Amino acid sequence: MPSGEKNGETPSKTTVTVPKSVGNDSANVKADNSNKNIKAKYVIKSSGTVLLPNHDIPVPTKFNTTENVLDPFCDPEKPQKISFHDVTSAAFLIKDGVAKTPCPRSTSSDSYGMDLYLKKDFLQVTGSFKERGARYALLCLSEQQKKTGVISASLGNHAQALSYHGWKLNIPVIVVMPKAAPIMKIQKCRNYKATVIVDGNDMGEAKTIAMKMAQDKGMLYINGYDHPQIMAGQGTIGLEILEQVPNPDAVIIPVGGGGLIAGIATAIKALSPNTTVIGVESEKCPSFSQAMENNGPIHTPINNTLADGLAVPKVGYNAYVTALPLIDKMVVVKEEWIALAILRLVEEEKCVVEGAGASGLAAVLAGQLNELKGKKVVILLCGGNIDTTVFGRCLERGLAAEGRLVKFQAEVSDRPGGIYDLCRLLSHLGVSIKDIMHERAWLRDIYTVSVKVVCETRDWSHSMELKNELKKHYTNVEFSEEPMAILNNLAS
Ligand SMILES: Cc1ncc(COP(=O)(O)O)c(C=O)c1O
Repeated sequence: MPSGEKNGETPSKTTVTVPKSVGNDSANVKADNSNKNIKAKYVIKSSGTVLLPNHDIPVPTKFNTTENVLDPFCDPEKPQKISFHDVTSAAFLIKDGVAKTPCPRSTSSDSYGMDLYLKKDFLQVTGSFKERGARYALLCLSEQQKKTGVISASLGNHAQALSYHGWKLNIPVIVVMPKAAPIMKIQKCRNYKATVIVDGNDMGEAKTIAMKMAQDKGMLYINGYDHPQIMAGQGTIGLEILEQVPNPDAVIIPVGGGGLIAGIATAIKALSPNTTVIGVESEKCPSFSQAMENNGPIHTPINNTLADGLAVPKVGYNAYVTALPLIDKMVVVKEEWIALAILRLVEEEKCVVEGAGASGLAAVLAGQLNELKGKKVVILLCGGNIDTTVFGRCLERGLAAEGRLVKFQAEVSDRPGGIYDLCRLLSHLGVSIKDIMHERAWLRDIYTVSVKVVCETRDWSHSMELKNELKKHYTNVEFSEEPMAILNNLAS
């Protein structure tokens, strides 16, 4: 059993010197406390964490597991690495059924200080890259398996991709989706004629249910991130990137169960070994980083995240052994940056991208990849399936993170015209009111009223102008704290 797996604890750490490649960040740098056990060096910043894999530690060739239903394609005792040849075979087979998506230069390259390219795989028919692996796995089935059909568990994107290509190829598909899966993704699978079962509190539970069902029905279970053909299919993105953006300095890839980065890194490192491969996770589901620290996949508690596509509690064994030697850096981002990235992609690139798909840009915005300034960088925008309600919330959070949505409270006169004067001041400053509420009962002075306002401004300096004017005119003004993007000196 990998160290730490028994009791679910991560190994203890102590402070060590900052490795040069991490840059000049003054934050804590930690690593495991004995030379022998060093797994990954990492830097903790207020904006998130950066981990550097220690490539001197051998990747285990065997793992123990307590899982009761085993998938023969993803056997922890015999983890399989995919090869470059697997990726090219996948590319050949799927070329007529999966779109080759564009990878244009970002219109905001200059403002990020990078020569930035965006690989728009959210433009696939079902809204994500998952079609690549799903179609390849379906095309590799035997004639009998094509008749019996396949089963899988997924938070949504793999389920949609499998349902869609199963429908197109006339192969029956059953998908088990956890209760937390976005409603829109569940409905889409039904539209693609799959049998959809909504069960399990998270991906882990949904997977157990689906695997048991596969056993009972004699159907093939296709793991959405760890099946070797799935990884090979996702790897075709790497081939396309290198064709569209020759010799990139770095490629940034979101990480959930690890299949996407495993496939892409296999292609990239075979053809362009000097390209840096960077993985990104949300702080709410850092299962690959935890696996790196543990020297093997380990169950990682998952919290609600904007990047629901990345919420996999344990990375795949095949994905881990394939990806780990090829990854140069793992970044764990805070959720606010993901919200801001979603907002920036809408405003600047006219792209609607879900949280998982936006997490690569989030790492850039958070300042966790500043060593890439001046370099040629590709960010993978791998999914666009975002619930409309979640999308609205993300945009609001993004605006708040940039200081363009602020709230304040001020005590104003309760005489006729008191609130009118406040509104006139806001109007004069060009500030737009989103919500306004006033209350009297708890104030000491019976001729005053406390007004709470949520409002939109142009930017943080406009918000500061508002704050100063309020302080000039009113007593007891409480104003929003300095937002995250401003603290990091990043707002444009
Ligand atoms: C939009 C999106 N991005 C990234 C990922 C991560 O892929 P993987 O689980 O293969 O690491 C997923 C997985 O579902 C996804 O849906």
